[in-house]
Amino acid sequence: MQVSPISFDRFNVLKDAEAHERIRAAKEKLGKRVSLLVHHYQRADIYQHHDLTGDSLKLSRLASQSDAEYIVFCGVHFMAEVADILSKPEQISILPDLAAGCSMADMANLAKVERCWRDLRDVLGTPDELITPVTYINSAADLKAFCGEHGGIVCTSSNAPKILDWSFKQREKVLFFPDQHLGRWTAHKMGIPLDAMQVWDPDLPNGGLTPEQIKGAKMLLWKGHCAVHQMFQPAHITNWRKQNPDGMVISHPESAFEVCTASDYVGSTEYIIQVVKDAKPGTKWLVGTELNLVNRLADEVKHEGKIVQFMSPMVCMCSTMQRIDPQHLAWTLENLVEGKVVNRISVPAHEAELAKLSLERMLAVS
Ligand code: 13P
Ligand code: SF4
Repeated sequence: MQVSPISFDRFNVLKDAEAHERIRAAKEKLGKRVSLLVHHYQRADIYQHHDLTGDSLKLSRLASQSDAEYIVFCGVHFMAEVADILSKPEQISILPDLAAGCSMADMANLAKVERCWRDLRDVLGTPDELITPVTYINSAADLKAFCGEHGGIVCTSSNAPKILDWSFKQREKVLFFPDQHLGRWTAHKMGIPLDAMQVWDPDLPNGGLTPEQIKGAKMLLWKGHCAVHQMFQPAHITNWRKQNPDGMVISHPESAFEVCTASDYVGSTEYIIQVVKDAKPGTKWLVGTELNLVNRLADEVKHEGKIVQFMSPMVCMCSTMQRIDPQHLAWTLENLVEGKVVNRISVPAHEAELAKLSLERMLAVS
């Protein structure tokens, strides 16, 4: 008999302090049966409840190694999908609020990628022999399955150089989706000239490119971006450097090419944290990535006299990840205590099998 879950209505009205108390109590009751995997961008009040934290590569590995019965993912939808795909069949992956998506991931979908592949077939003849499809981990499971099926691979912001290197060893061209910026920056660092890269606009026939442009491109970059990282501008760096000539600038590779080139360091969230933590006491940093991470990092290193500042004058948070609030987390965990599962993320078996292929290729290469 199906047991109905406790309704969220009873949790929606909870004051934060009570929700936190109930989260702690439920975690204690569940013990090792539950593991809370928390991304670096998570808001501070949720972050404090983590069992494990990381960037998307580290969290994928942790999900694949976890023995917990329930993996509660405090991140966004694609991350909970990856946890479901890489964990054991009997483990259950949960996203406390199903509205926690990734706007960049939504910029590509299977219908558009399949149409792109057909357009490329019309121009090139045999895309499977000529092009390695590479999907950023910030994408739906069916796109990872597409890559699995077509000899492609997944990448994250921390392993993108190794993945592109592998991809070009397989075939002469790469179709990179959905983040044009990570693709462009990584290919540029490998020495691929900018004029050998073309932006594929999925809303235009042939991506808005001529057959000659498609034939001449080594790298086809899907026209997608992150709404948070697009807020950073080269002028923010120039102005800050005027005030802080001895300061250092570090950015996430989802930022625009001009921001990455103006930065001293570029890398994933885990890399950013490591570089700043390893830096000499008293150093000053301008950081181009999500605000929750930057605030936490500033707090963690201030006792060494390090100053960490956020790149944009505007508040840029990952608004979708923010949706995981204390009320949703308390609701999720109390249901688990009662033996009821809410918001399970379950990738259909056939899709999961193909997606796993492209994720396992990634884990092997990185
Ligand atoms: P990381 O790979 O650094 O975790 O980045 C994921 C992400 O979504 C950044 O916007
Ligand atoms: Fe997606 Fe941008 Fe949020 Fe990262 S910061 S999860 S890319 S919307």
